[in-house]
Amino acid sequence: MNFKEPPEEFQAYLQDHRNEITKRYEAAIKEVYTRLEILKADFQIQKKRECISTIQSRIKSNASILEKLTRKGLPVNISSVYNKLNDIAGIRVICKFIDDIYILAEKLNGQDDLVVVEIEDYIKNPKANGYRSYHMVVDVPIFFANAKEYVRVEIQLRTVAMDFWASLEHDIKYKKDSCECEEIVDELKDCADTIATTDQRMMELRDKVSKKHLLYQQNAL
Ligand code: GTP
Ligand code: MG
Repeated sequence: MNFKEPPEEFQAYLQDHRNEITKRYEAAIKEVYTRLEILKADFQIQKKRECISTIQSRIKSNASILEKLTRKGLPVNISSVYNKLNDIAGIRVICKFIDDIYILAEKLNGQDDLVVVEIEDYIKNPKANGYRSYHMVVDVPIFFANAKEYVRVEIQLRTVAMDFWASLEHDIKYKKDSCECEEIVDELKDCADTIATTDQRMMELRDKVSKKHLLYQQNAL
């Protein structure tokens, strides 16, 4: 099999199943999205501030599904798509502060009908290139017309700052081959580390301001 150019029959096969794929993963995204919105609202009431800046989602295109199946040497059929690929449905949660990520992850983890399949903590263990984010793969129960099914979703949680780095690094890396040279790799890593330090400092500043505000309120009484 030519891994670079999958046969046209595979493309046609996925095209025939696209509505089914979209229906399945759109439902899962809606379900996880709602859970996140509920957590966000509850957090707002309890802590008087927002923990989530934005939520983005996407369903993998047929071309990307085909590329990934062939790259992994998996058969092109609907069972492979549903059972072997973790990121057909992707949700990216952009948080304000690092600790918000862990609070949200813990809350999702505690939802008893949600099955956590995998956790990759690239914040505690950043990738060699400096990439930081918290990845969770979950199976979420969906009540379709004829059956209840668990549908897989990849949730990426990261701060605004981590997202800034990841999106620019993605552009730099994927548009140019030159990024493999040592100088650029080192600079990107250096930027990621600077951003990580800044994320930490912003969290400390937030706590400092909260403490001062509390003290001010107590003294005003
Ligand atoms: P596959 O390679 O997709 O089979 O899964 P994996 O679990 O090995 O991948 P990983 O968890 O490393 O990455 C999944 C997703 O995280 C990617 O599709 C990107 O969205 C994001 N990601 C991971 N590493 C990087 C990185 O170095 N830079 C950027 N910009 N994004 C990354
Ligand atoms: Mg992963």
